Amino acid sequence: MAVIVTGGAGIIGAETVRQLVARGETVVAADLRPPKLPVDIAGKVRFARVDVSIFEEVLDLVMEVKPTRIYHFAAMLSQEAERRHALAFRVNVMGAHNIMEAARIGGVPRLLYVSSIGVYGRDLPDVIDDYSLQRPDIHYGCAKLFGENLGRWYFDKFKLDVRAIRYPMVAGVGDRALAHWSAPMIEDAIARRHHTCVEAARNSTSILITEADSGRAAIELLEAPVEKIKTRCYTVLGMKQSTVVEDLGRELEKRYPGFKAEYTREQKPKLFRVIDDRYAREEWGWKPSHDTLDKLLAHFEARVKEAA
Ligand SMILES: NC(=O)c1ccc[n+]([C@@H]2O[C@H](COP(=O)([O-])OP(=O)(O)OC[C@H]3O[C@@H](n4cnc5c(N)ncnc54)[C@H](O)[C@@H]3O)[C@@H](O)[C@H]2O)c1
Repeated sequence: MAVIVTGGAGIIGAETVRQLVARGETVVAADLRPPKLPVDIAGKVRFARVDVSIFEEVLDLVMEVKPTRIYHFAAMLSQEAERRHALAFRVNVMGAHNIMEAARIGGVPRLLYVSSIGVYGRDLPDVIDDYSLQRPDIHYGCAKLFGENLGRWYFDKFKLDVRAIRYPMVAGVGDRALAHWSAPMIEDAIARRHHTCVEAARNSTSILITEADSGRAAIELLEAPVEKIKTRCYTVLGMKQSTVVEDLGRELEKRYPGFKAEYTREQKPKLFRVIDDRYAREEWGWKPSHDTLDKLLAHFEARVKEAA
């Protein structure tokens, strides 16, 4: 029996593949490109070249593998989706439909849909939780919200057990996606390289979760007994507090002598909001491993050393 991980070559997808293999699962990584994995894992993973925006490709894979679970990570990320929204519609909206419809036809019992806190946008309260108004202001957020709600519909109508996880900003080793400022800064600090922050304004803020915590949360949510799942679409956090870009830069300068960060932009100060992931914690026991800067940096150092 196997599981399918779409987007299995991406930062979080590949990490999830790695953790699933470590748990003894048979994994098919479906992506446009093969995943880069440590050698001891790579030999145990089958790569399937699948474009999730093409229904027939998705259906063929699902009918052939007959997976017990699907983790759907494949997506165009927010900045890229803003630039190329027609393509993003195919990948993010049609991709969500294709994977859920194929899972229904193939009789797959459980599917994890990967969402984002980008589903929140306008008209927000000071504290945002899983029941707050979701009125996204970016194309990516609109697509993710569609996927969350489509998952609820498949569950109500066909009993396909779709669960959704919403990440804040993922700090994943090797991540160079547009607007993802934290990984390049941290990796430059560890290497004592000069860092010019081009992906975010000096005063912008993000809540960070590591790729390792993101992958584990995905696995644990899909493993949780059905009776624990009430809310169905869950935000999970790593570090509870928001991190301000230049605060992290200053802290890294202290911890890694020789490292220096400079910034290229400033933005109008935004209202700081608290995000609350208590439903994930209460319903299926979510607990991040890297919930402090010390732990997050220790994780980065270990992974950088492993890759060297
Ligand atoms: N990284 C973050 O900060 C963050 C935050 C919230 C949610 N997410 C979500 O997590 C998931 C994984 O993100 P990531 O950070 O690993 O991004 P990533 O860009 O590293 O991975 C996405 C993967 O999807 C693949 N892909 C893109 N289009 C495809 C297609 N048409 N068919 C098949 N595969 C395709 C890409 O090749 C890539 O390997 C995405 O759904 C993303 O929206 C990420």
